[in-house]
Amino acid sequence: MNRKQGIGLLALFWSLLACAATAQAEGLPIKSPLVRDVCGTCHRVDSEQRLSRISYIRKTPEGWEETIKRMVRLHKLQIAPADARQVVQYLADNQGLTASELEKISYALEFREQTEEIPNDAVKAACATCHSYAKIAAQRRSREEWFKLKDFLLAVFPTIVYQHRQIDWPRTADEALAWLADQYPLETPEWRREKGQPPPGAGRWLVIGHQPGKGDYAGTLRVTNTADGDRQTQTSVEFADGTKMNSSGKGRWFGGYAWRGSAEWQDGRKAREVMHLSADGKILRGRWFILEHAELGTEEVRYRIDEGQARLAAVFPRAVKRGATVTLTIYGANLPDVMKSGALNLGDGITIEKINEATAEKIVVQAKVSPGAKIGLRDVRAGAVPGAGLLAVYDAVDYIRVSPQSVMARVGGERYPKKFAQFEAHAFSKGADGVAGSADDLDLGPVKASWKLGEAFTSYDDNDLLFVGSIDQNGLFTPAVEGPNPARRRSTNNAGDVWVEASYTPEGASQELKSRAFLLVSVPVYRMTLIP
Ligand code: HEC
Ligand code: HEC
Repeated sequence: MNRKQGIGLLALFWSLLACAATAQAEGLPIKSPLVRDVCGTCHRVDSEQRLSRISYIRKTPEGWEETIKRMVRLHKLQIAPADARQVVQYLADNQGLTASELEKISYALEFREQTEEIPNDAVKAACATCHSYAKIAAQRRSREEWFKLKDFLLAVFPTIVYQHRQIDWPRTADEALAWLADQYPLETPEWRREKGQPPPGAGRWLVIGHQPGKGDYAGTLRVTNTADGDRQTQTSVEFADGTKMNSSGKGRWFGGYAWRGSAEWQDGRKAREVMHLSADGKILRGRWFILEHAELGTEEVRYRIDEGQARLAAVFPRAVKRGATVTLTIYGANLPDVMKSGALNLGDGITIEKINEATAEKIVVQAKVSPGAKIGLRDVRAGAVPGAGLLAVYDAVDYIRVSPQSVMARVGGERYPKKFAQFEAHAFSKGADGVAGSADDLDLGPVKASWKLGEAFTSYDDNDLLFVGSIDQNGLFTPAVEGPNPARRRSTNNAGDVWVEASYTPEGASQELKSRAFLLVSVPVYRMTLIP
């Protein structure tokens, strides 16, 4: 950038800053003296303690963090790290998103792989070309603030118009921003309904999760308060295969609904937790993943136990075979004393032979499944507490399926992190209708399959199989290193595409079942952002 352009850019930024303060009816007052002091050197404070620009936007904690990082990078804001954390905390607490607003974009914050549905064509064409739609839908702004994004983008990316020469970018951006201003104003009905909710305090939670490659787990988590507003967590869980695991960690609420935590598991894994609370404050859903490797993660649900509500949350194993004698573990919260009352019902055709253990959170029983028990998902019940569709009865494993069905991994390990891919094979029953692939098919849970890679013939003679990486017998694909590979034709890098093939022989069966998934091994993401 030459000097003249630099000055032009500065002038544009100052005009971007200045005009917002004038006569806007809405806008959120900023009560934190720290935020007013640190940001007020450039952002004008008005008589109602509103700061230009800042008071007219709501964002996620990651969104605020990203903006403040830009203030430092582009505008030379000077701020101590501890102050920056407090500013993010204040803004996320007071100008964040509510439960219902977060629910729609939580997939991006939790790094869940998901194909986005973009409800507006102009937004799709003018905005979702560089980043996700979620990055946009994770903000609420006054109309004026939405339209300021156009100038901002033009200033920071002067090539944006040429990059989008297939459309008339300035006009399409206006259309997109007009739609966004209608769709995502600063004040929404959800905001009016759900704002100001204090986050949950200390207490106990029931935890149910599924870790790909390892299976279903359940347990409890205890949260205690610390003096500095952090929360400490102690979790102990049990997997469906009987393995037990503990973790301890800490975390923080941002606003009433966004939980950000970190935990260290007994086996040394360090996890980051990104979870979001339901509007009624009782269910916390989200994902935790290995630090630096969001792709290696686990979906988890936490139910508040102290709230007094009784619930049945899971039965392990989740499927039982006709004619079998099984030990079932039922997890829930505030369960009635079924040992005393005997009021436990697993549906017609399953007889409880013995209750081995019964607490308010866990019931272990020995049960017999009759050979004629009805095939399909069934409800279980402890006293008056219902558990809809928690247990399946099947007669045979009819097929297996690898999940995910297609995924992208990335070479790395030298200058950029590798992006791994964890696969899992689930056994399925055709269900009562005997037709594979129909709606009543039963997912019987993960099985221990054998794994290998196979060539996918999309380009001729590229021998991807030799270069892209390897898969272990737990379904974990580890990609090769990045950079040109002299051993490859034209010294190309180790990217490529392959099939991931699972095979499994069910107990007592003579024939092996197979399934495969498509794996694209791509180059690293060269620019890391907080929100993709
Ligand atoms: C040194 C001057 C300076 C300081 C100090 C400063 N900003 Fe900014 N800020 C700017 C400029 C210039 C812009 C417009 C360009 C841009 O968006 O990057 C801006 C824009 C913004 C925006 C609107 C951007 C958007 O589209 O969301 C927000 C929000 C913001 N600043 C927050 C803050 C916060 C919070 C602080 C205090 C931690 C702060 N700023 C401190 C200069 C500053
Ligand atoms: C040329 C690529 C590109 C296009 C096209 C683009 N963006 Fe962005 N956008 C970015 C980048 C890069 C950032 C991150 C800026 C930073 O480092 O803070 C960003 C940030 C944002 C942010 C967060 C800003 C903040 O400070 O909170 C919003 C909101 C946003 N874009 C909306 C849009 C909308 C709406 C459109 C379409 C009108 C759009 N973007 C088009 C590249 C793009």
